[in-house]
Amino acid sequence: MKIAIAKEVDAAEPRVAATPDTVKKFKALGIDVAIEPGAGIKSGLLDADYEAAGAVVSADAVKDADIVIKVKRPEASEVTKYKKGALVIAIMDPYGNEAALKALADAGVSAFAMELMPRITRAQVMDVLSSQANLAGYRAVVEAAEAFGRAFPMMMTAAGTVPAAKVFVMGVGVAGLQAIATARRLGAVVTATDVRPATKEQVESLGAKFLAVEDEEFKNAQTAGGYAKEMSKEYQAKQAALTAEHIKKQDIVITTALIPGRPAPKLITAEMVASMKPGSVLVDLAVERGGNVEGAKANEVADVGGVKIVGYTNLAGKVAASASSLYARNLLSFIETLYDKAAKSLAVKWDDELVKATALTRDGAVIHPNFQPKA
Ligand code: NAI
Repeated sequence: MKIAIAKEVDAAEPRVAATPDTVKKFKALGIDVAIEPGAGIKSGLLDADYEAAGAVVSADAVKDADIVIKVKRPEASEVTKYKKGALVIAIMDPYGNEAALKALADAGVSAFAMELMPRITRAQVMDVLSSQANLAGYRAVVEAAEAFGRAFPMMMTAAGTVPAAKVFVMGVGVAGLQAIATARRLGAVVTATDVRPATKEQVESLGAKFLAVEDEEFKNAQTAGGYAKEMSKEYQAKQAALTAEHIKKQDIVITTALIPGRPAPKLITAEMVASMKPGSVLVDLAVERGGNVEGAKANEVADVGGVKIVGYTNLAGKVAASASSLYARNLLSFIETLYDKAAKSLAVKWDDELVKATALTRDGAVIHPNFQPKA
């Protein structure tokens, strides 16, 4: 069996799907590994490091590979180079990209979306949403600190006192929790909000203050899968009123609110942005899915009346070495479940819940129930 590590074709994607460490682990399982030249360079990993770990560096790495691993979904021009029947495992971004999924099916590959991994105990080590969102939440605070013209911690000096920055985190999933923790470590005074009641205790345990419209709808806002529901218009209006008052007094706002398979909820209007003091900073982590902040622009720092709105889409990629190392471990763990160690061969159990949840295409068709072509 052979695994290929493909180089990302998107110049804005610095992460890589394997590290010398995971290459060694694949080799120990009896799997051959090939890697496209320069695949790890933007994560600080040299071809020579992969070679030393046992990989073959080759421009033809993907040609006869049984499994191709990537960070992002391969484009049509890439996937035609893969062997028919190969497994392709990546962050596939399937929602709203039905045509791209059909192209994967037409190429005859079996595509797996790592971000659809069920959030069950067995799959925690494979959870790319968590591994990447955690780093994105951290990096959001670093970006905010960089864009903010003041210090985060309170400083009492002979020349006067610098007040602590006030940070408000909206959406307390994995990214939001790490943003709270990071902002607290930097000495900020942190408040946070979410629509899922379970987050209240989590926010408080990190030393931040929880703020939310805690009505009946709030009490039922969490799905069985642990995700947020899309809230009613009435709830959104109450939430907006609460946010509008709070936001005026904040220096930094970090938004991470997402609903799986839906556009990101609009939480911050242009008027709310305008109500903030010049020099304040918003970081919108949901920008790729439409954004939580009105006026956020993908991969730009927008200046709206002296308030900066940071809209970087790939914040985990800005900590590429760490992000690649965690993503590579997520992939290794998943691939171990697709492999028969005794027979040293590929052994996909198509009825395993991890496979059923992540498999998008097989034998020329889109097989995932959520992405069936519309009749
Ligand atoms: P996400 O990325 O889908 O969403 C981020 C946050 O935005 C969520 O906390 C969500 O409740 C919040 N949100 C949605 N609409 C909002 C609104 N209108 N206003 C304010 N906040 C809003 O979430 P993520 O990070 O993927 O986490 C989702 C759940 O999965 C959490 O319960 C988390 O604890 C759980 N989880 C479970 C794991 C496991 O293995 N069991 C691993 C990681 C996360």
